[in-house]
Amino acid sequence: MAQYAAMRSIGAYVPKKILSNTDLEKMVDTTDEWIVKRTGIKERHIAAEHESTSDMGAKAASLAIERSGIAKEDIDLVLCATVTPDYFNMPSTACIISKKLDITNVQAFDISAACSGFVYLLSIAKAFIESGMKKNVLIIGAEKFSSIVDYTDRGTCILFGDGAGAAVISATSDKKEAIVDIHASADGTYADFLVTPAPGSVHPANQKMLDKKLNFVQMKGNETFKLAVKTLTQDVIEILHTNNLQASDIPHFIPHQANYRIIKAVGDALGMKDEQVVLTVQKYGNTSAASIPMAINDIYESGRLKKGDLMLLDTFGGGLTWASALLPFAGASK
Ligand code: UT7
Repeated sequence: MAQYAAMRSIGAYVPKKILSNTDLEKMVDTTDEWIVKRTGIKERHIAAEHESTSDMGAKAASLAIERSGIAKEDIDLVLCATVTPDYFNMPSTACIISKKLDITNVQAFDISAACSGFVYLLSIAKAFIESGMKKNVLIIGAEKFSSIVDYTDRGTCILFGDGAGAAVISATSDKKEAIVDIHASADGTYADFLVTPAPGSVHPANQKMLDKKLNFVQMKGNETFKLAVKTLTQDVIEILHTNNLQASDIPHFIPHQANYRIIKAVGDALGMKDEQVVLTVQKYGNTSAASIPMAINDIYESGRLKKGDLMLLDTFGGGLTWASALLPFAGASK
């Protein structure tokens, strides 16, 4: 019998501390008015000093496992998407999360696809399950982005926040529950649009790289913005067309939460109504690989996401990478 992959559950973790626009006004030359007008962001959450990416990922994952009704002993693959791993670059954050959850003796690894990481993981989980290699895959998008943000750079520090989201993807023979389609792509031509230059083989850790602040994220904001609008829109047009669907068939359009103006421009270009578009950027900022699962968790927890509801995920990030996914929510409604 054919084996399909289904999203059985969702979970998220949001750190307690809030960094508001008013707080940022005291740190860099900016205003609440500018940030809200240009990005839609009002506040973002920041992990505590002692709180690592794996701590947040493990909390989100624990909730996702509990909600899935699947015993953790039955999880056979743990995947984490992050660009702010606990360590550069081993052990993987997925290995550390597995240990924290007491899920041992299973395959575990990280991927680096920046903000597209969670949808990339969805495609990997789908492939492992459909090939029959795995049955229950735990996927996690987790970021302590504050660990690579220069809080003297007003062009980036206003945007990013910390958090984690996770889902259990399981084998099913019921096609109605299955992930419908995923398109994922990349183009390294634009690698310098969003980059954390060090530490790495190009700029190994040393005093010089610290003096030049190469350990912080650098972004060509305006260029990234324009490409994001174009790519996110094109992604949706393609995946809807391939699957003979219209924008009006989608109850939950869940785009990457980078900037309200990007989301609005994409939604308008696609003819989406406001009530179809999921928005969390105002309260979490851009949480990179955690952005999509945190947004899914938001509509799950508010009761808006019901079992069987179709979701359209659409993301874009450093690499450059982009991806879209069409899938029903196969977990129980809250
Ligand atoms: O998650 C991955 C994908 N990431 C994204 O998609 C992010 C995409 N980029 C953006 O969201 C926007 O480009 C930003 C929010 C980062 C910047 O907005 P913008 O409308 O593109 O502004 P800009 O970079 O063109 O800068 C306009 C002006 C500049 O001043 P001048 O040169 O016109 O005098 C900036 O120096 O705004 C200034 N500026 C600020 N002013 C107050 C830049 N940042 C700030 C700030 N507060 N925080």
